Amino acid sequence: MDLMEYQAKELFAKHDVPGAPGIVATTPEEARAAAEQLGVCVVKAQVQAGGRGKAGGVKLAKTPDEAHEHATAILGMQIKGLTVHRVLIAPAATIEEEYYFSFLLDRSNRSYLCIASIEGGVEIEEVAATNPDAVKQIPIDAGTGVDEAKAREIVTEVGFPAALTEQAVTTVLALWKTFVSEDATLVEVNPLARLAGDKLEALDGKVSLDDNADFRHEDHAAFEDKDAADPLEAKAKAKGLNYVKLDGQVGIIGNGAGLVMSTLDVVAYAGEAHGNVKPANFLDIGGGASAQVMADGLDVILGDEQVKSVFVNVFGGITSCDAVANGIKGALELLGDNATKPLVVRLDGNNVDEGRAILDELNHPLVTQVDTMDGAADKAAELANG
Ligand SMILES: Nc1ncnc2c1ncn2[C@@H]1O[C@H](COP(=O)(O)OP(=O)(O)OP(=O)(O)O)[C@@H](O)[C@H]1O
Ligand SMILES: [Mg+2]
Repeated sequence: MDLMEYQAKELFAKHDVPGAPGIVATTPEEARAAAEQLGVCVVKAQVQAGGRGKAGGVKLAKTPDEAHEHATAILGMQIKGLTVHRVLIAPAATIEEEYYFSFLLDRSNRSYLCIASIEGGVEIEEVAATNPDAVKQIPIDAGTGVDEAKAREIVTEVGFPAALTEQAVTTVLALWKTFVSEDATLVEVNPLARLAGDKLEALDGKVSLDDNADFRHEDHAAFEDKDAADPLEAKAKAKGLNYVKLDGQVGIIGNGAGLVMSTLDVVAYAGEAHGNVKPANFLDIGGGASAQVMADGLDVILGDEQVKSVFVNVFGGITSCDAVANGIKGALELLGDNATKPLVVRLDGNNVDEGRAILDELNHPLVTQVDTMDGAADKAAELANG
């Protein structure tokens, strides 16, 4: 889950990363009230996208009226396709220098990495492209992490000015603490700024949390952006389904992430011959394809207005094909008149004959059985196009 700046700053505050958390406002009136409290401030769009400043989503306000005016302009604005529902009102800082600092999960090396530069600010991507030596990459041993000695090594390598060394060490340790204790995959500060009076502060924050660790962090559920969540994905999540909404017309249900991924490919390929129809979703119903899970899955997929046909692609393993066929039968009974779109079912694997017999016997008008994956994909694409 990618957090917004104000949420990242809540975590920063919890782990003693220096910087003001600011006040969140959802209306221009709230922005004015926050500015009355904070004095000269910046009004910052809160969206899960970079480049907010360049898009006009970060504005200085000298007075509460100006904060009201900027919030009026920024709230409702679109940045990279995302609508701004909140602004963060943060005390304006007098910036002398801007640095870039991040910790991230380095998947290719199965480790962690610190990327940092004393040439930070909004143009860090350009610095990386034109002057890559200015951007330091420091590997971090996943076993030992960042202790004070490692933090000093990082601060030296990045080249923070001498006057900031001790603050930089403390900040690096606090950011590492945020990274580890929140189970983050990214903690990024741009700018980490040198303010007048040689104070080092995080003026921005980006944090991505590892959803696999949600069970250890009950408080992370509150970070979920209800405004941005796709309603179908939210519904699937509430039912405990592994569902991702896509743009096409063929609903997909399969068991096992690998099988579902290849089903998406096969349907996209088959769709080329049928008006370019595409998969409408990813849905892995996992091992136990019970009637309830199948009904939940179908219910979510049939709720997608774009869906014109559904492809159920199941390979019977521990859950055998007859159990899956009974799941489909039970799901159609549970859904009744709510099942409205043609279903192409391909069963293979353990107890395939029994499974196919159950569906043959059911003889449901919406259900077509096709024996092969390619054939079923073609049929589902054809139905979606028709
Ligand atoms: N509290 C502040 N006081 C003064 N200037 C600020 C403050 N916060 C940000 N700025 C200035 O605005 C610029 C952009 O702000 P910020 O980094 O938060 O957004 P962004 O870089 O556009 O967004 P993102 O980092 O998500 O791409 C900063 O580089 C900094 O110069
Ligand atoms: Mg930034």
